[in-house]
Amino acid sequence: MRVKVLGTAAGGGFPQWNCGCALCARCRRGELPPRFHDSVAVSGDGRDWWLLNASPDIRVQWEAASVLAAGPGPRDTPVRGVLLTDAEVDHTLGLAVLRGGADLTVYAASPVHEALTTALPLRGLLDRYAPWRWQDTGAATVPGAGATGCAASAAFPLSGGLTVTFHPVGTKAPKYVAAPAPGLPWVSALRIEDPATGGALLHAPCLATWPDGFDALLASVTCAFIDGTFFSAEELGQAVRSPDAGQSLMGHLPAGGPGGTLARLARHPGLRRLYTHFNNTNPLLDPSSAAAEEVRRAGVEIPADGMELTV
Ligand code: MLT
Ligand code: MN
Ligand code: ZN
Repeated sequence: MRVKVLGTAAGGGFPQWNCGCALCARCRRGELPPRFHDSVAVSGDGRDWWLLNASPDIRVQWEAASVLAAGPGPRDTPVRGVLLTDAEVDHTLGLAVLRGGADLTVYAASPVHEALTTALPLRGLLDRYAPWRWQDTGAATVPGAGATGCAASAAFPLSGGLTVTFHPVGTKAPKYVAAPAPGLPWVSALRIEDPATGGALLHAPCLATWPDGFDALLASVTCAFIDGTFFSAEELGQAVRSPDAGQSLMGHLPAGGPGGTLARLARHPGLRRLYTHFNNTNPLLDPSSAAAEEVRRAGVEIPADGMELTV
């Protein structure tokens, strides 16, 4: 399986348009590389590509990725569709940019599907430009663990030889959904397998907790992209000095500290591990920071936009 990293930043990108924090300022001065919103493209055969999330930067991300270039026919594209981990604005607005694209399929868990039909009604809008297939992957839940038990959905075959399963890992609804019912599986980790090689990728850019079953899910793949939004619970408050940003984690488990994802990922040295969805306040954006050094020493990667992997 080929994996093309299209972007690695959290909502707002890096630098963020309305942020003057130290890291954003250094990025604007050319001292740190800018990053697009997180998204990855995968292909089993190098011809048919599937996007994991559709970011607001999608048009520019596409121009920077020659594997996704249109052709050979005047209206041909190698992109077959989009697999959504959640319904957040930074992962779905790119769908609007794809309007008119023929024959695309969008896969999403039930609450995400519902949000795209009602609160953020992209589905009805897009189907008036070109009819797409909208595949509801269901809402697998585990007795006891509810909507965060990592239980696999049905397996969906993707053109190009890959297979995807959706695994519920979180219940955080997007802010734009008024009065969401509690406990629904809003957030999924995606497991994409290439049966021809045995390679398997896990894409989990949104983890509010380390859910039951997540260690087993990690142990079942050869490569994983993991939520790296924040390194610490304090960084947002320190960077923007806003009282309401004090200890705000906005539904993302930090990388550092005793309960953080880095300590947990250390239990899985056998697979390739990469962080993604970096918030613009995250010291991991600076390769010379102590945090970045700690992550590298643990064998976890901080990927650059544009990087390509074979899984
Ligand atoms: C998140 O990742 O928590 C959301 O995308 C936040 C946002 O609305 O940008
Ligand atoms: Mn986000
Ligand atoms: Zn900033």
